[in-house]
Amino acid sequence: MNHWGTLVRERLSERRYLHVCGVVDTARELAARFGVDQEKCELAAWLHDILREVPASGLRSLMDDVGEPLPDGDAATWHGPVTAARLGRDFGVSDAQIRLAIAHHTLGHPDMDEVAQVLFVADAIEPGRMFVGVERLRAAARMDLLLAVACVADASIEFLLDTHGSIAWQTVALRNRAWLGIDETVAMAYSENIKMIP
Ligand SMILES: [Fe+2]
Ligand SMILES: [Fe+2]
Repeated sequence: MNHWGTLVRERLSERRYLHVCGVVDTARELAARFGVDQEKCELAAWLHDILREVPASGLRSLMDDVGEPLPDGDAATWHGPVTAARLGRDFGVSDAQIRLAIAHHTLGHPDMDEVAQVLFVADAIEPGRMFVGVERLRAAARMDLLLAVACVADASIEFLLDTHGSIAWQTVALRNRAWLGIDETVAMAYSENIKMIP
């Protein structure tokens, strides 16, 4: 196991550790497929959930300590921004792309670059994910990175509508921007491809 795997294993439950390993493998695959920096995608994937099991009070202290405000919204989404804020200090990682990818991995953000897009998609479709519709997301991710981002954002919004959850503006703005950037032939090919996928 590499240094990052050991670090994650020490801090997360078995279930979440296996999720992170799945995200790393999927991020590596997506990065290779779409010509994105593989090393950055993998490192972002290793670290994205490293504070996922720290309670809200602990995340608040970590943020107070660096003098940054906690984001609005559900405490379950705080681990991304807090990890991003602590990345250099606690993990010795200073890369801005990795930092932004981790900051936005849960809600998404309209300004996400390709490293962040890879993490956003990998987090949703890694092999351990088993929700209705995930095969359609995997099909999108075999075709086009931006298409996969749009489909993952749509799936997240659909889930929140079904469960009466709060939908962050960042997710809506990401979804709108992504669909605007997708070539019509790609969108049509996707609709054709998923006809046989539940
Ligand atoms: Fe997360
Ligand atoms: Fe995750």
